[in-house]
Order: sequence, then C-alpha cells, then structure tokens
Amino acid sequence: EHKGRYGPLVGSIDEGTSSVRFLVFAAKNAEVLTYHQKEITQITPHEGWVEQDPMEILEYTKECINQTYENLRRLEIDPGDIVTTGITNQRETTVVWSRTTGKPLYNAIVWLDVRTAETVTQLLKSVRGAKTNMLKHRCGLPLSTYFSATKMKWLLDNVPAVKKAVDEKDCCFGTIDSWLIWNLTGGVDGGKHITDVTNASRTMLMNIKTLKWDPKLLEFFGLPDHILPVIKSSSEIYGLLADTRLKGVPISGCLGDQQAALVGQTCFQQGQAKNTYGTGCFLLYNTGKSLVFSTHGLLTTIAYKMGADEPAIYALEGSIAVAGVAMRWLRDNLKLLNNVQDSRFIAENASEVGEVVFVPAFSGLYAPYWRQDARSVICGITEETSKANIIRAALEAVCFQTRDILEAMNKDCGIPLKTLLVDGGMCANDFLMQQQADLVGIPVVRPSMLETTALGAAMAAGRAKGIEVWGVSENHAVPVDTFLPVLKEDERDYKYSRWKMAIERSLGWSA
Ligand code: G3P
Repeated sequence: EHKGRYGPLVGSIDEGTSSVRFLVFAAKNAEVLTYHQKEITQITPHEGWVEQDPMEILEYTKECINQTYENLRRLEIDPGDIVTTGITNQRETTVVWSRTTGKPLYNAIVWLDVRTAETVTQLLKSVRGAKTNMLKHRCGLPLSTYFSATKMKWLLDNVPAVKKAVDEKDCCFGTIDSWLIWNLTGGVDGGKHITDVTNASRTMLMNIKTLKWDPKLLEFFGLPDHILPVIKSSSEIYGLLADTRLKGVPISGCLGDQQAALVGQTCFQQGQAKNTYGTGCFLLYNTGKSLVFSTHGLLTTIAYKMGADEPAIYALEGSIAVAGVAMRWLRDNLKLLNNVQDSRFIAENASEVGEVVFVPAFSGLYAPYWRQDARSVICGITEETSKANIIRAALEAVCFQTRDILEAMNKDCGIPLKTLLVDGGMCANDFLMQQQADLVGIPVVRPSMLETTALGAAMAAGRAKGIEVWGVSENHAVPVDTFLPVLKEDERDYKYSRWKMAIERSLGWSA
C-alpha cells in the first residue's frame, strides 16, 4: 500500500562519467521528486590516461542514496514508497576486483582512456590481413581503445595483481553497472556478479546475435571466462539493496546510459532516434528486432531487452568522444571559461569574422572515422580571433560531428531522420541547440525534462516482472522546445565543407 500523495516511487542511480546521482521519480507521472549528486574525481596519471577510483564511485553512490532518503523525509514523502531502483551508467569503463576481499585491483579505466592504442595496434598486427572492422560481424564494434576488452587485456598484461587474481580465479571483471550491483547487493556476502545486455554489448566480448559471451572473442583478447559477470536482461529483479537507507529495496532495471536515454525518450519504435549531449555525445537509432550492420562507421549495439523472455531490440549508434569534455578543457586548462554555462552567452556574442573550426580529437576520433591517430586541430585563427570564437567553435564541433553521424545513419538506414530528439546536460544551452538545428538542417526537439537517462533506468526497473508499477507507454510525454533551422542551405553546406577540411587536417596530423 502506498499511502503517499505521489503513489509508488522508483529510484534511479545514474552513474555518469562526470558525476553520480540518485533520483526519485513518481511512477504515476514521471515527476522527479528529489535527487542528490556528487562529482567524480578524474585521475589522469599520464597523457591520454583517464582513471577513476571504484571505491569513490561506490561511496558516492551510497551517499547519494542516503542523502536522497533524507531529502524525501524533509519533503514529508515516505521513502518506504520507493518500490524499486534502476541503475544506469557510463558504459565501457572497466573495473577489476577481488572476489574474496571485494577490493578493486586497479583504478577503473574510463572509456575515454587511450592507453590501449598500442594494444590495438599489436592486436591488428597479430592477425594477417587484420582490419579494424574484422570483429564487427560478431560484436557489432570496431577494434578500438574505446571498448572494455582492450582495457581488460591491458590490465592482465600490465598489472601483476590482476594477473595473480586471474590465475587464482579470484578476479571479477565488470563495467560500472556490475561493480555497483555486486557491491550494493552484498559484495563479498553474496553480491550478484551480473551485467545487462546493453552494457555487455559494449565490452567487445558478447556475441551480438546470441547475446552470450563469445568464446572466439575471449580467445582473441586472451581473456578467461571465469572473470565475467552473468548477462541478464535490462528489466528483471537482480537482487536487493544490502546496506544504505534503502535496504531491502530491489534493483530491477539496468541499462547503459545512452540506451537509458533512448528508453527515457520513449524511442520504442523502429526509426526513432535521440542524441544525448553529456561528457561525450551519442546518437542512438532504434532498428527494432533487426540487426543492422553499418557500412558507414556506426556501431551495432543492444538498445534494450525489457525482460528475460522479451526480445532484444537493437540500435545503431554514432559515438562522439568529446562534447562536455571540450567545455571542461576550456574551463580548466585554457581558463577561457569560469563555468561551462557561460559558454552560451560568450558564444552568442562571438563575431562571425574569420570563422574558426575546432576538431577536439582528445581520444582520437570516434564515429564515423574510428581513427585513434587523429589529433586535435584549431583552424582559421586570425589576429581577430577572440576567446569567444574558440568557445563557439568547440560548441559547433559537437553539431558538426552530429551531422557526420546523421549522414552515416541516413546512408545505412535509407530513411533520413526528420527531427532530432535531444537530451543531456549540455542541451540546456539554447545557442548550442539553435546551432545544431542550423548545422543539420532539421528541427531539434528538446524535452523540458532533461533527466531522460535516469528516467529510462527507472522505467526499466518499474516494469520488471514482480514490480510492475510502470507500464511503458507514451504517457510520460513531456512538453518540448523545438529549434527550427534558419540557416540557408548553401551556408550550411559551406560551413560543413570547412569542417570536413579541418577533419582532413586532424586525420593527417600524425601521418
Ligand atoms: O560510452 C560512454 C558513455 O556511456 C558516457 O556517457 O553521459 O558520461 O557522456 P556520458
């Protein structure tokens, strides 16, 4: 019985690259009642290396849950009305820990980290005639530093404690979802070592057709199967929260954060797509039950599987490594911004003189290029160039890369997208949204509620068998803002041709 005025509530853990949050939704109307958020420390021991402390991620997650519990009490909402919890997370980021002590064996290697560039080169050399896409028919992905398999191989080859734990069959491998679920369901006292299909589809170790760990892929990367979590659907009861103030509440939904945003935007029909602007930027296009292999540099991934007996729904994905990262770089390294929100007003007032084009290839270039040797370039600097031009160019870079991806997607799918649904923190920037509409030439539609990632995980949790407080339907449709393109087509194409010239220079830099 939920006597509270909001009826049953659903919690959502949203562990992104930059921060972790716990939010509480009212199931009846998808309203966010309260949340708590903590920034995650980014550890950069060497150039191109990005790590995080798994213990910090875990502690902050618990803190967010406990703090949100207190918030609810202050709001006179009964936390006992929380019927279940979902989890959504930065994908690919790799954690290894000891099954017996529960301690991490190394820092988490974040998806953005490029330390495995050499591993990728060596793997390509190890097979005659090897190509970046040679495993794509099996896992949907190109061989890249981005995915978990090369990170796990690096850990095994370079960290003696990991090697020892693997030899002793004491090593657990997981993406952030696995690390959190194992710990939150009891850790060394019976924690569940599981992952969901969407997260598993980002490791390069799962077969995209059978949805099982693939022995050929494991053999290729030299990884044993005893380190792997059990693959589950995105919506089923995985276990109960063991400690925290919400002890006993089930965890019953799990999706990678980009897939969760697709669900939160209710893109359940084949042909629907969304673009999420966070630390990176990711466009996912629902291809239904059919598996589409891109011939234009997109990934094939699992969109969701809403129950153990439900079919897997697939998506094509265009991944952009640098979106919010560039804003952080302008703020922390170049000190051109005091806070990233200022970028909107500064860019708005940038003169159009001597247009600057900025390709931020800090992690090489992802889709559709997949070139780890690409380097960042800023082209077209003149005496007139001001910081406003650079900031504007950093925002436009996300828009141009979205156009790169849309072009690839239209070629792969044959039916051009008519509108672009957007979400994620950076979408609050109206200037960016208008630029996006102008540079892709189709309307950009932004929901007034930008928490679609957390909502997607909550929806998966709330509709799990045995919970069933949330039928997935259109009834959470929220009001939207629409940005219409106003730029003339020839100007749009001219700007895009300048972007392509800058891309050539980025790709050619280390050639
Ligand atoms: O693949 C990486 C992605 O899941 C990270 O998402 O929101 O932290 O940029 P975000």
